[in-house]
Amino acid sequence: MSQNNENVKVWDLPTRIFHWSLALSFLGAYFTSEGRELRPIHVMFGITVLGLIIFRVIWGFAGTRHARFASFVKGPQQVKSYLQSLLAKTPEHHAGHNPAGALAILGLIGLGLLVPCLGLLKFNHIGPHWLGDVHAVIANIMFGIVCVHLAGVVVSSYLHRENLVRAMFSGFKKGARSEGISGTRRAIGILVLLAVLGFWVGYGWTHPAVLQVFSTSVQTSDND
Ligand code: HEM
Ligand code: HEM
Repeated sequence: MSQNNENVKVWDLPTRIFHWSLALSFLGAYFTSEGRELRPIHVMFGITVLGLIIFRVIWGFAGTRHARFASFVKGPQQVKSYLQSLLAKTPEHHAGHNPAGALAILGLIGLGLLVPCLGLLKFNHIGPHWLGDVHAVIANIMFGIVCVHLAGVVVSSYLHRENLVRAMFSGFKKGARSEGISGTRRAIGILVLLAVLGFWVGYGWTHPAVLQVFSTSVQTSDND
């Protein structure tokens, strides 16, 4: 058995909590974006996206090996050679993010900062009237990148014969022992999770409209 086939820890807990909270919050914000009644929930999820991305930028410098930008941000040459290896069905092995996936990830992190900031400006009536349209257009571009991201995850999982979604839950991927990380930074991961949950509880508490939207949708589904 080659030494690249061991199960090694690559994603620390903060990265995994960040990812699934981000996916939930982004989709939550996206699918509650239309109509004034859902706006409180939209804003709550949108601000969560912003907070998570700020954490991820810090973690990109302070996190464990594969979470660091320096480990996965690669030049165009490496992206090209990775894509060529995919086409030749002999995919290059990367213990962390592959160079092509990393491009989508950088796009999502960049737009994940921009979209909520534009939303906050619009919400607080700062700036020109068309800012809301710019916010919506860029949010839709971000949704497009999420779709590319999901397609990339499916294709890479198939070509690498490795379930990357499961790896984002467990933290383990196939690789050489030397590629693994030593600790999972559990305490920081739990803090990130508590910060997200605490924000939602606090927001719902101080904005009763959020709870009203939820109770109305529960009543509506009860009456169905
Ligand atoms: C709900 C369906 C989703 C699934 C199944 C999924 C799956 C994954 C997987 C498997 C990875 C790791 C890729 C690798 O091994 O290189 C990943 C990374 C990532 N995904 Fe997703 N994703 C989803 C939704 C999203 C959404 C909605 C966003 C953003 C708006 C997002 C942003 C990211 C980011 C930023 C990373 C990099 C993680 C990090 O290093 O912190 N994902 N995703
Ligand atoms: C990643 C997070 C976010 C996404 C994906 C997102 C997405 C969207 C989209 C697609 C629309 C257009 C809805 C339509 O077609 O009517 C919209 C509208 C809006 N969003 Fe967001 N948004 C996010 C974050 C935020 C935040 C943080 C705020 C405020 C604090 C915000 C405030 C608004 C407002 C006020 C509008 C209405 C704009 C207008 O009337 O022109 N959004 N958002």
